[in-house]
Amino acid sequence: MMSLTEPFLVDPARVVGPVLVTGASGCIGSWVVAILHQSGVPVIACDLEDNRSRLSLLIGEAEANAVVWEILDVTGGEVLSNFCKTKNITSIIHLAGLMIPFCKADPARGARVNVEGTINVLEAARHNGIKKLAYASSSAIHGMPPVGPTIATLYGAYKLANEYTAKVYWLDWGVPSIGIRPNVVYGVGRDQGMTSEFTVGMAHVAMGEAFQVSYGGPISWLYAGEAAAAFIAAVCNDGEEALVFDLNGTCMSVEEGLEVLSKLAPDHGMTTSGTSLPVPADLSDQPIRDFLADYPSVSPTDGIKWTLDAFTKLNAERKLAAR
Ligand SMILES: NC(=O)c1ccc[n+]([C@@H]2O[C@H](COP(=O)([O-])OP(=O)(O)OC[C@H]3O[C@@H](n4cnc5c(N)ncnc54)[C@H](O)[C@@H]3O)[C@@H](O)[C@H]2O)c1
Repeated sequence: MMSLTEPFLVDPARVVGPVLVTGASGCIGSWVVAILHQSGVPVIACDLEDNRSRLSLLIGEAEANAVVWEILDVTGGEVLSNFCKTKNITSIIHLAGLMIPFCKADPARGARVNVEGTINVLEAARHNGIKKLAYASSSAIHGMPPVGPTIATLYGAYKLANEYTAKVYWLDWGVPSIGIRPNVVYGVGRDQGMTSEFTVGMAHVAMGEAFQVSYGGPISWLYAGEAAAAFIAAVCNDGEEALVFDLNGTCMSVEEGLEVLSKLAPDHGMTTSGTSLPVPADLSDQPIRDFLADYPSVSPTDGIKWTLDAFTKLNAERKLAAR
C-alpha cells in the first residue's frame, strides 16, 4: 500500500523554507506538514498545543515526532512576528482557525482567532518581508451577503473579512497573499466541522460500526491531500498581489459516495438522511488550476478508497478512535 503522502510529494527545490504552518494539528495542517516534511522541505509546524495525533495518522508516530514544532497562538501578534524574524521564515501557510460550530458557540473568540489571527499573520508578513503567504479562506464566503441561496454563517463573514483585509494589506503595504477557499474536505484527519461526517462515517465503517450521515445530495469532494497540495503550490513563488480562489474538488452526491463505498465494502452500514446542505457544491477550480503550478487532482473513487484503506490499516493497528 502506498503511503498517504506519496502522490503529493514535491521537489524540495520548488519550496523555499522554512515554511511556517499555522493550525498544524488540524486536518489540512497535518496534511501540509506531512507532505512538506516527507518531501524534505524545512517546515515549522505550529498550533496551540503540540498535538501530532492527526499527523501521526498520516505518517506514523516516529516521523511525526521528527517534525519541528512550536506552540504559537495566532492571536498573539508580536510573538508571531518575532518568531518569523528569529527563524527567518520565508513562507507562511496559515490554516489556524475555528470552524462553523465553534464560531457560532463563541463568536468573539471566533473573531479573535479567525479575523485578528489572520491580521497578525499579515502583519508578520509585512514586517518580515515575507512574499509567500497562503491563507485558508472558505467556500462559506459564498453565503455572504446573508439571505442568499447558501447558508450565512459568522464563520463565512469572518473569512470574507479576511479576504478584504488581505486586499488592503496589498494596496497599503504591498503584502502579497493567496487566499484559498476550500470546499468540503474529506480524508484521514477530517474529524470535526459541519461537513466532516462522511469521513467520520468511513472511520466507523473501518471499525465495523454503522453510521448515518445527516446530509445528502450533491457536495464537493475535496481530498485533504489535494487541498494541502494546493496550499503548498501557492507558496512556491513570490506573490505579486492579493488573490483569492475557490477550491472545490469534484462535485458528487453523498449517495454516489455511498455507491463507491459499497464497491469497496459491500456491508458498510453507512446511510444518509438525504437532506441537502445549503452550501455550494460545484464551484470552479479552473481559476486556481490556471494560476498555480500543477498539483495533483484526486477523484472521489481514489480518495474514498485511500481513506478507507488507511482507516482499515489504522484500525488493525488499534490507532483509530471513534469521534
Ligand atoms: N476542512 C474543511 O472542509 C475546510 C473547508 C473550508 C475552509 N477550511 C479552513 O481551512 C483551515 C484548516 O481547516 P482544518 O480542516 O484543518 O481545520 P481544523 O479545525 O482541523 O484545524 C484548525 C487548527 O487551528 C488550530 N487553532 C485554533 N485556534 C488557534 C490559535 N488561536 N492559534 C493557533 N492555532 C489555532 C486548532 O488547534 C486546529 O488544530 C481553517 O482555517 C478552516 O477554516 C477548512
